[in-house]
Amino acid sequence: MSFYITTPIYYVNDIPHIGHAYTTVVADVLARYHRLFEEKTYFLTGTDEHGQKVQQAAQKRDKSPQQHVDELVVRFQTAWKSLDISEDQFIRTTMPFHKKAVQDSLQELFDKGEIYIQEYEGLYCVSEEVFYTEKDLINGKTPLGNDVQAVKEKNYFFKMSKYQQRLIDYIHAHPNFIAPEFRKNEVLGFLKQPLEDLCISRPKARLSWGIELPFDNDYVTYVWFDALINYASAVGYKQPDKANLFKEFWPSAIHLIGKDILTTHAVYWTTMLMGLEISLPKQIFAHGWWLMEGSQKMSKSLGNVVNPLDLKDVVGVDGLRYFLARDIYLGNDAQFSQELVINRINAELANNFGNLLSRSTNLVDKYFAGKVPTSESRLPGSKELKNAALQTAEKVKTDIEKMSPNTAIGHVVDLLNQANKYLEDTAPWKRAKDSLEDAGESLYHALEVLRIVSTLLSPVMPTKCSDVLKRIGWNKPAVFKDCKTWGLLSNSDHVTKGDPLFPRIDIKTL
Ligand code: ME8
Ligand code: MG
Repeated sequence: MSFYITTPIYYVNDIPHIGHAYTTVVADVLARYHRLFEEKTYFLTGTDEHGQKVQQAAQKRDKSPQQHVDELVVRFQTAWKSLDISEDQFIRTTMPFHKKAVQDSLQELFDKGEIYIQEYEGLYCVSEEVFYTEKDLINGKTPLGNDVQAVKEKNYFFKMSKYQQRLIDYIHAHPNFIAPEFRKNEVLGFLKQPLEDLCISRPKARLSWGIELPFDNDYVTYVWFDALINYASAVGYKQPDKANLFKEFWPSAIHLIGKDILTTHAVYWTTMLMGLEISLPKQIFAHGWWLMEGSQKMSKSLGNVVNPLDLKDVVGVDGLRYFLARDIYLGNDAQFSQELVINRINAELANNFGNLLSRSTNLVDKYFAGKVPTSESRLPGSKELKNAALQTAEKVKTDIEKMSPNTAIGHVVDLLNQANKYLEDTAPWKRAKDSLEDAGESLYHALEVLRIVSTLLSPVMPTKCSDVLKRIGWNKPAVFKDCKTWGLLSNSDHVTKGDPLFPRIDIKTL
């Protein structure tokens, strides 16, 4: 089975903030887990570069839109590089192959009679690039609180409404298609109202920065039509030379998105795919929002944005990745504060993980001159710890397959707790005086737990975990199957002690 995960393609105009980093880090963590499981994996992220917002911003800066996006995209690319994001492709909607795939899709729908032209009057929200009707508005603003403007023009429409029942049936027949469950119910609720057709064009007179309709060069296509196609074009849709890539990955596509863009994915995209006669993705998973003080959504317009790179400077890349993947149940909203980040890292990394590492490496250095003291499981608690470690590997895999990284990590934290308690109980620092063999046994069990834990957390903290593995003498690449076998560290492996891997972070450094 292959694994294909996507993030939204972010509006290139925005400065990457912790919300964008969240989706991207979680998708990266999931992709790295599937690679650890040795599955064929493809991870896609990128930027959404057309539309009125971009055109206006470029005008303000006195740049051509292309120049403008070429300059701005770098902020996302460098942010992801510095957060150790391992995407297989960074797609930009201004790339020629993507534009061609969008045009070919439009032409196909047009030829099939799925697109028609009509006079249209509506309220357009530039910042969301979405049309609204009067009844959608709350005090004259969109439900997300943005301004709209009245627009009257001839436009092209995609016959979205005709797919309404088919979509409802599909959602019922595929209970995991929209996740979590409560989001699926939201979409089904939305689909109780009659669905309208989707306006998929913008006259060039109003907006020229977009992909031209192949059948009418007075128009460009609607940014969402353009943007959504990225998930398919990136893996070879409409590109005969990449047919195998498409066949391999498309059926397993999982779109990880924020709940703000659930309708565009669950309704627009799915019906577009029905029109194009392509199978639907495997899953659309909408996560919650990080909320700031006062439960406000973090957003540029509210001025409460946290820059992930500033935070990274305080807690380190792996610390930040750990927090984002660990702290909330994927799907729910969560409160964000720097204190929460620091408390989480101190409790679970500095104290729990870091403590086990420094105690065991120091003691192996002291009593065994760094040589790994291999042993059987005879002492009280040894067998239990060994079994718990092996079970943890299975639990992690199960939870990752259920798109639940935070509980997967939780199992590893439980194992670390058990290992620290075991070390307290078996007290190798005391036993070493009477029986080096007993001390060696408890240290060997601690080292084996560290090997399994570092392998299991390597998708979350690639750099730190590879350091831990080196320190305990494990010089092979981390692979999941080695977590299913106990006792792989051998007598010829060598442990080195060093500085604390996760120094406690002083809350006062904020
Ligand atoms: O909507 N908490 O792009 P966008 C959690 N270009 N996640 C957040 C967040 C927060 N406070 N703020 C943003 C677009 N996000 C379109 C997408 S896809 C074909 C086109 C994340 O730049 C979350 O993933 O507004 C959300 O869905 C996305 O950023 C919106 O990014
Ligand atoms: Mg947005």
